[in-house]
Amino acid sequence: MGLAESRTISLKGADKISTRVQNASELPSPAPESAPSEGGKVLVKSYGCQMNVYDATRMADLLGREGYAETADEAEADLVILNTCHIREKAAEKIYSELGKLALEKREREASGREMKIVVAGCVAQAEGEEVLRRQRAVDLVVGPQSYHRLPDLLKQAKGGQRLTDTEFAVEDKFDALPQPSRAQIRARGVSTFVTVQEGCDKFCSFCVVPYTRGAEVSRPVADIVAETRRLVDAGVREITLIGQNVNAYCGVDEKGAEWSLASLLGRLAEMPGIKRLRYTTSHPVDMAQDLIDAHEAIPKLMPFVHLPVQSGSDRVLKAMNRKHTVAGYLDIIARLRKARPDVAMSSDFIVGFPGETDEDFEATMALVREAGFASSFSFKYSPRPGTPGAERADQIDEEVKRARLAALQALLEEQRQAFNAATVGKTIDVLFEKPGRHEGQIGGKSPYMQAVHVNGPADMIGEVARVAIVAAGSNSLAGRLISEGEEAKA
Ligand code: 5AD
Ligand code: SF4
Repeated sequence: MGLAESRTISLKGADKISTRVQNASELPSPAPESAPSEGGKVLVKSYGCQMNVYDATRMADLLGREGYAETADEAEADLVILNTCHIREKAAEKIYSELGKLALEKREREASGREMKIVVAGCVAQAEGEEVLRRQRAVDLVVGPQSYHRLPDLLKQAKGGQRLTDTEFAVEDKFDALPQPSRAQIRARGVSTFVTVQEGCDKFCSFCVVPYTRGAEVSRPVADIVAETRRLVDAGVREITLIGQNVNAYCGVDEKGAEWSLASLLGRLAEMPGIKRLRYTTSHPVDMAQDLIDAHEAIPKLMPFVHLPVQSGSDRVLKAMNRKHTVAGYLDIIARLRKARPDVAMSSDFIVGFPGETDEDFEATMALVREAGFASSFSFKYSPRPGTPGAERADQIDEEVKRARLAALQALLEEQRQAFNAATVGKTIDVLFEKPGRHEGQIGGKSPYMQAVHVNGPADMIGEVARVAIVAAGSNSLAGRLISEGEEAKA
C-alpha cells in the first residue's frame, strides 16, 4: 500500500533544536487520544544513543498526527525509518547491511503490488547525505537529525517517486513543529522517559563525528522543557532523564531571557510533585560545574548515578584527543561528587587505541579505572572517522593491539561492575518499578544506580518507588524482596 493511501503509522524510535522562548500555551497541540488508523503503518528503528531514541519517539508522534500507526513488525510496515548512528564505522556499516535486507523485502512487496518506503534518518543521513541514495537504490528519503520535523512534506514528495535528501540545519525551530504525544502514547511508553534539553557539541574531540552530524551546542528554553515534562508527568511518567550530547553544558533561557544552568533546571523540575526521580546524561568533565555537583546533595530526587565519559587515563592521550581536561581534574570531580553524595556511582566511556597510544598510556587508563571505580561503563576500540583529525594521523594503532587492550580493559570494568552489584546484596534500596517482570507475578524496576531489579509483587506497583531488600545478584540484574516499613524499622 502506498503512502498516499496510508493513514496509519507505527514507530519505535525521534529529535529537536532551537532557543526561542516559548510559552506552554504556544506549544503544538497534543495528538488526539486515538489517532485515525486507515492502514499505513510505520516502524522506526533506532540505533546508537538516547538522543536517537528520543528523536525516534518524536518522529512517531509526528507521523501519528499524519495518520500513521506504529508497528514493531517489519512485515506489516508500509514505512520503515532507520534512525541511524555514525559514531563508529561498525555502527554505520550495520545500517547498510540492514538496508540490504530491507531492499529485498521491498522488491518482494513490489512484486506483489504492495509498496514500502524506506527512510534513512539520524547521523548516517547527516554525514553521508546523497551518498546513501547512491549506495542503496531502495532508499526513498534521507533526512538529517535537524530536519526530520519536515518528514510529512518529504514523504508526500517521495510518494510521487522522487528520491530526496534533506540534511539542512533548519532555521525554523524543529521542536515547535513537533506535536506532543497523547496521554495514551505517553502511558504506553512507560514510567521512565527522556526529555532532550540540549543538542549538539562544540567540543570537537579529535576522534568524534558528533560536532559535524549534530551541529553546535543549542539549549531548549526552560519553559518548553517544563511544559513537555509536565505533560509527561500528568500522564503518569515518574522518572525523567534529561538528555543532550553535552547535557551539562545546558544554558537555556527563561521567559525573562535569563540563562539557567542544568542544576537550576533540575531544581525547577524537582518541584513537580509527580516526579519521583531525575537523571541527566551525557556529561562532559569540563562542564561539570560546582552547582551541578551541589545539586546531588540538595535535590534528593536527583539520582546518585553519573555517566561521565573520561575516554583515557593518560594526560598525553587526553591532550591528543582534544578533551580539555586532565586525569587529576577528572578524579577531582569524582571526589567532589562523592563529598556531595557519598553513595554516588560512576559510569564512563573509554576508547582504547587512539593514534599514538603507547602501552604506558594504556596502563594509565587501567590505573585510572582502578582508582576511580566504575559501576558500569562503555568501552570501544578507536574507529577512525572520515573528516575527524584523529583519522588523518599516521600513527594509527594496530588492530590486534587495540583488540588486546580492549579485552583487558573490559575484563577490569566487568569485574568492577560485578563487584558493585554484589555489594548491594544484603542492602535495602529504593526501586522504581517500571514493568512486569519476566516471570508471572514478578515486577521489574531500577535501583538508584541504574541496576535492573526484580521482585515478586503486584503489577499495580508499576510507577511506584518502594523499599526492596536485595537478596541476590545475577550477571545482569538483582533479585529483591519487597519489605514493609515496619520490617525495615525493626532491622
Ligand atoms: N571511535 C571509538 N569510539 C568512539 N566514541 C566516539 N567516537 C568514537 C570513535 N571514533 C565513543 C566515545 C563516546 C561514545 C559515545 O562513543 O567513548 O563517549
Ligand atoms: Fe563527541 Fe567529544 Fe562532543 Fe562527546 S564531547 S559528542 S565525544 S566531540
